[in-house]
Amino acid sequence: MSSSIFPLVVFARISAVLVAALVLIWALFFKTSFIPHSPSSPDNFIYAVLHPLLMVIGFIIISGEAILVHRWVPGSRNMKKLVHLGMQGVALASGVFGIWTKFHGEDGVVANFYSLHSWMGLSCVSLFAIEWVMGFMSFWHRGEMRRVRMKMLPWHVFLGLYTYSLAVATAETGLLEKLTFMQTKRNVPKRGSESIVVNGLGLGLALLGGLVILAAISPKTPPIHNLSTKSNLL
Ligand code: HEM
Repeated sequence: MSSSIFPLVVFARISAVLVAALVLIWALFFKTSFIPHSPSSPDNFIYAVLHPLLMVIGFIIISGEAILVHRWVPGSRNMKKLVHLGMQGVALASGVFGIWTKFHGEDGVVANFYSLHSWMGLSCVSLFAIEWVMGFMSFWHRGEMRRVRMKMLPWHVFLGLYTYSLAVATAETGLLEKLTFMQTKRNVPKRGSESIVVNGLGLGLALLGGLVILAAISPKTPPIHNLSTKSNLL
C-alpha cells in the first residue's frame, strides 16, 4: 500500500467502524422506533430494522471498502479486480435485499414510492446494478477490446464515485425522514439520546463518504526507485 494513502485508508476504516457501531446501537437500543404503529404482522419489525442495517453496513460500508480495494489488497491486478467485483456484488445484493425489506407495507410497492428518499434510493441501486453488470462483463472479456476498456475507465471511476455519493446522500435523506417522523409523530425528544445517535450516524456517514472519495482519487506515490529512474531519464 502506498505510504501517503495509508493514513487516509485507516481514517476511512475508523469512520466506517464508527458508522457501523452507531447504526447497530440504534437498531439494538432503540428497538421501539422500528416497531410499526399498527402491527399487522410481527415480521414488520424485522423488515423495518433490517433496512437501515443492510443499507448502511451492507451497501455503503462494503461498497466503500470495495472502492479502496486497489489501495489495500496485495497481489496482481486481476486479484484486485476479482476482490473488487466480489465485494461490489455483496454490496449490490445487500442493496437489493434492503429495498426488498420495504416492499412489505400494507399498501403494496407502488404506494411507498412517494418520497425523495425512495426515488433517490431506487435510482442509486439501479445505477449501481448497471455499473456492476458492465464491470462483470468487462472482467470476463478481459482480452478483448482493450482500448475500449481503457477509454471507459474514467467513466467507470466517475460513475462509481457518483453512485457511492448518491448512496450516502440517500441514506442521509432516509435518516432525516425517519427521525423527523419519530420526533413529530412518536414524541422522540429532539435533544434526546436517540436523536443524538441518529444525527451522529448522519455526520459519520458524511465523514466516511468524504474520506473514501479522497482516498480513491488521491494519486499513488510512485516507489522511490521509480522516481530516481524517472529523474535519470529527464
Ligand atoms: C443507500 C442507502 C439507502 C437506500 C438506497 C434506500 C432505498 C430505499 C427505497 C428504494 C425505499 C422505498 C421502498 C418502498 O417504500 O417500497 C426506501 C424506503 C425507506 N427507507 Fe431507505 N434506503 C437507504 C437507507 C435508509 C436509511 C439509513 C434509513 C434510516 C432508517 C432509511 C429509511 C427508510 C424509510 C423509513 C423508508 C420508508 C419511507 C419511504 O419510502 O421513504 N433508508 N429506502
